Amino acid sequence: MRTHLSAAAALTAACASLACPSDAFSSAVVAARQTPQAQYPASRHKMVASAESSHAETSSSSSAISSDAAAARPPSSTPSFLHEFDPELSVMIDAEDGRQRNGLELIASENFASAAVRSVLGSCLTNKYSEGQVGRRYYGGNEYIDQIESLCMDRALGLYGLSPDEWGVNVQPYSGSPANFAVYTALLSPHDRIMGLDLPSGGHLTHGFQTAKRKVSATSVYFESMPYVVSSETGLIDYDDLERRARMFLPKLLIAGASAYPREWDYARMRQIADSVGAILMVDMAHISGLVAGGVADSPFAYADVVTSTTHKTLRGPRSGMIFAKREYMEAIDSAVFPSLQGGPHNHQIAALAVALKEAATPEFKAYAQTVVDNAQALGRGLTDRGNVLATGGTENHLLLWDVRPWGLTGSKVEKVLDLASVTTNKNSIPGDTSAINPGGVRVGTAALTTRGLNEQDFDVVADFLHRGCQIAVQAQSIAMQNLEAKKAQGDEDALKKKKVLLKDFVAVLQNDSEILAKIEKLRTEVEAFASGFDMPGSC
Ligand SMILES: Cc1ncc(COP(=O)(O)O)c(C=O)c1O
Repeated sequence: MRTHLSAAAALTAACASLACPSDAFSSAVVAARQTPQAQYPASRHKMVASAESSHAETSSSSSAISSDAAAARPPSSTPSFLHEFDPELSVMIDAEDGRQRNGLELIASENFASAAVRSVLGSCLTNKYSEGQVGRRYYGGNEYIDQIESLCMDRALGLYGLSPDEWGVNVQPYSGSPANFAVYTALLSPHDRIMGLDLPSGGHLTHGFQTAKRKVSATSVYFESMPYVVSSETGLIDYDDLERRARMFLPKLLIAGASAYPREWDYARMRQIADSVGAILMVDMAHISGLVAGGVADSPFAYADVVTSTTHKTLRGPRSGMIFAKREYMEAIDSAVFPSLQGGPHNHQIAALAVALKEAATPEFKAYAQTVVDNAQALGRGLTDRGNVLATGGTENHLLLWDVRPWGLTGSKVEKVLDLASVTTNKNSIPGDTSAINPGGVRVGTAALTTRGLNEQDFDVVADFLHRGCQIAVQAQSIAMQNLEAKKAQGDEDALKKKKVLLKDFVAVLQNDSEILAKIEKLRTEVEAFASGFDMPGSC
């Protein structure tokens, strides 16, 4: 396995030959960090599909780059001709590639698509216009595009066991947010009422988020939105409270589904509440569609009228969207997608989705989905065993909400330290948070690293890294607090106005305190040695 030492060398060489004209170049070099001395098994090669290696062979044999340059190239996701034609951009892409390989990707909405999926994204299909539906296009030359879109639709219905007599599917939405807005456009009139899980409770922006000051999501601009919430004590959806709100508000559309909810949904209860107020029930299964396909999360299809999904999270496909709906809603939904909201479908995405749906129907994917959940539970145990607190006490899916408030920290501060140590997470609201701007938690998910082959023991190592990062944040917070007190004692006017350590003061400690810098550097070195030992699907 090639190490990232060569990546750093190659990037330095590329920059030197171009006289490093921009800051982006130097930051690209900084991002291409050297692989530290391995303290973990050097190469795990656990979960690389055989298709990956055959794709790698094809792409390397078609390489047009000179042998010297090829030898200098880092492990790369960019084709050799791009390195030659656009070295400026290609250095940046390679730096991102290095970041993904050498870091621990714990963003719960991300995954690593296969080489097959990625090869289709760069295929000739990106060239073709095909506005309209299968068999009813506005341009000629769509006979093969029709076949591809039909194949994708058949696979989508098949994957979730849906009868085409009862359900239809639209695979043209460019992504999850446009898919949701297409459903609203199809089924609601302006100012009709919708009800979804509140953003600070784990819901998604497109489910109607607004604040007292601002209608943040377009959904709340064009429709009237009242959210339901999780209990601040248990972190679980309060279905009784939801029912009370629904009876008062009488939504036309009730939405289940979330971006940050670690537990199963009670779809039967949601159906019963929707029926009691005459609402349509939509389930946005964006986060869990791969788990549903793998049979390790409850399927919403027995209860919902409409189901939307992204395709790039646990489903591990390209960045795209799907809308499933009962036949009676399908015509309105198709026409909302095109011509109301979108133009030409992204055929390369639709074909890549067809590949991902085929992959998701395999026994290997079922095993993958189970491992994602097992790994999330192992990560949860690893964190709680080390004294950390999780919202709802744990997880039943691929994500965890780590409550860092008991350590006297905010999610932003922990996210910052982990980022510097090559562990990628995101700050997130935690049930009971008073400020959505300064959330008290961190969201972590296991879908992406499970794709790279990490198992339950590996996730205990990841839990240790997370815990160590958090302890560095605790120390940095205490240093920042001492600095603040010292400034106050000197009568510093700015300091006297501050009641707590602000993020910028905390970051200043991360940048300047030598002990903290050394601890982060040590953690990053260990993280990168560990992460770079696992394979990465999808590479050229
Ligand atoms: C539940 C849910 N729905 C919709 C979306 C929107 O998807 P996209 O970012 O592809 O527009 C997301 C994205 O994270 C999501 O979590």
